[in-house]
Amino acid sequence: MQKPTIAIIGPGRAGSALGRALYQAGYTVAAIGGRNPDNVRNLADELGAKACQSPATTIDLADLTILAVPDDVILSLATEMVDSLCSAAGHAAVHLSGAQNRAALRPLAQQGSLRTGVFHPLQTFRRGAEAVQNVAGTYFGIEADPPLREQLMQLARDLHGHPFDLSGIDLALYHAAAVFAANYPTTLLAEAITLAVEAGLPAETARQGMTTLLAGAVNNLRELAPAEAITGPASRGDQGTVERHLEALKRDPQLQRLYRLLADRTKLLSSNKEAAA
Ligand SMILES: NC(=O)c1ccc[n+]([C@@H]2O[C@H](COP(=O)([O-])OP(=O)(O)OC[C@H]3O[C@@H](n4cnc5c(N)ncnc54)[C@H](OP(=O)(O)O)[C@@H]3O)[C@@H](O)[C@H]2O)c1
Repeated sequence: MQKPTIAIIGPGRAGSALGRALYQAGYTVAAIGGRNPDNVRNLADELGAKACQSPATTIDLADLTILAVPDDVILSLATEMVDSLCSAAGHAAVHLSGAQNRAALRPLAQQGSLRTGVFHPLQTFRRGAEAVQNVAGTYFGIEADPPLREQLMQLARDLHGHPFDLSGIDLALYHAAAVFAANYPTTLLAEAITLAVEAGLPAETARQGMTTLLAGAVNNLRELAPAEAITGPASRGDQGTVERHLEALKRDPQLQRLYRLLADRTKLLSSNKEAAA
């Protein structure tokens, strides 16, 4: 299958990571578009692409345009792009959001033969060049009709990723699941570091120690189901220790409530394992 040429609108976290990974995988990144001229030019120069200062015109420069802009911008940008489109023939556009289906691109889909889809990396990308390291191994949720569907599946495989079908999936629930997996553990880690510092640990020891602890838990989860991997007082039934934690958290009632909720869900998780045994 011939590799489509790529345009990326939005050289932010996800757009830059995917742009770099596609470039490394041998794709031609023909154009970068966006609103900040410096960000657009920097990524375009790095990937040998044309820098487009008007994001809407980017679509004419490549076979496949990736809208890597915030979720709330997708529909308005797609609407803008329709006015700048010279020819729909042979072009396709996808967005990267896991929270919206391809209806967000309907102004473009209404342009005759222009194909639209969703290409959602089930991954978390930071700012900066290091983000590309997270691309390999990523699961990519795909919603598109053939032949764009096959093209996106191949794109995911060329990125050393795993494509899966997003059509018919409840996207609100699916995206909430992704937020539970990637975002809230980060919020919980921030709370853990703050508590460890309040307890008296030096800040750097707290940050490194707690982050290594989280990495250990993730490591265990690579091979074990959550019910098998879970450790700690709530899963062991050490209620005395749980009560001491709740007492120590009394000064922050909201955090104490969060701890209690998580302890209850952890007990449930452990009891499910026992029931299955
Ligand atoms: N980051 C992740 O971990 C991740 C993972 C999976 C999916 N996604 C999806 O990827 C998409 C982008 O998210 P992100 O985290 O990469 O966001 P981001 O880092 O904030 O980057 C957004 C990019 O869009 C540009 N932009 C913002 N408003 C614009 C507009 N009105 N017109 C043109 N360009 C505009 C920004 O311009 P500036 O350069 O001026 O800031 C920036 O380059 C979202 O749909 C998100 O759901 C993100």
